[in-house]
Amino acid sequence: MTVANKKGYFITVEGTDGAGKTSVLATIENWITAQGHRVITTREPGGTPLAEQIRDLLLTSREEKLADDAELLMMMAARVQHVHTKIKPALMQGTWVLSDRFLDASYAYQGGGRGMSTARIDALHTWAIDHFLPDLTILLDVPVAIGQARVAHRGEEKTRFEEEKTAFFERVRSAYLARANQEPQRIVVIDARADQARVQADVIAALSQRWSA
Ligand code: TYD
Repeated sequence: MTVANKKGYFITVEGTDGAGKTSVLATIENWITAQGHRVITTREPGGTPLAEQIRDLLLTSREEKLADDAELLMMMAARVQHVHTKIKPALMQGTWVLSDRFLDASYAYQGGGRGMSTARIDALHTWAIDHFLPDLTILLDVPVAIGQARVAHRGEEKTRFEEEKTAFFERVRSAYLARANQEPQRIVVIDARADQARVQADVIAALSQRWSA
């Protein structure tokens, strides 16, 4: 990671919809606090008041269909705002930052799900945030059917993405796994089919391995 004088660490949690990010985020937050560090938890798309407005544009279904390129550009625009106004300033102060999704989601959803070219995403990624990457990414991997059943169980109104078909999420899952394969040092894949206690133990093991007290 290339923030000059950075003191805190940046951790992201990824996975297909319904992979169980919420409880894992709480586990990580508690672990960081227990190590005696300050931490802020944030999310993408969003994380700042302006970026949250972009989130609303991205997640709410409207009559006018959002073009794939517009979707990718808006994800990146929200990310630039988030990194510059929230993530980097916190890291510089020694605060750890934990984000519910980040860059890898663009490769998984826009690249895998929508089928946009990786080269296009790479170019925008470099433009938007250069080589700024998380120190650790936890990828919660779960078969699509299980994730979809969990989402349906929540009973909340579906986002634009959650309305997609199974094949879309299969592509998202494959793209996430392909990325983990390319960057095994940064991305730790956790089997999120397991019960919550097991997933929690695996997550803590990954954190302890990286930052043993
Ligand atoms: P999320 O907050 O995880 O939704 P939920 O809480 O319902 O699981 O993420 C919002 C959606 O945005 C999710 O379906 C994935 C999508 N997304 C992208 O398509 N590209 C991106 O770069 C990011 C960050 C998210």
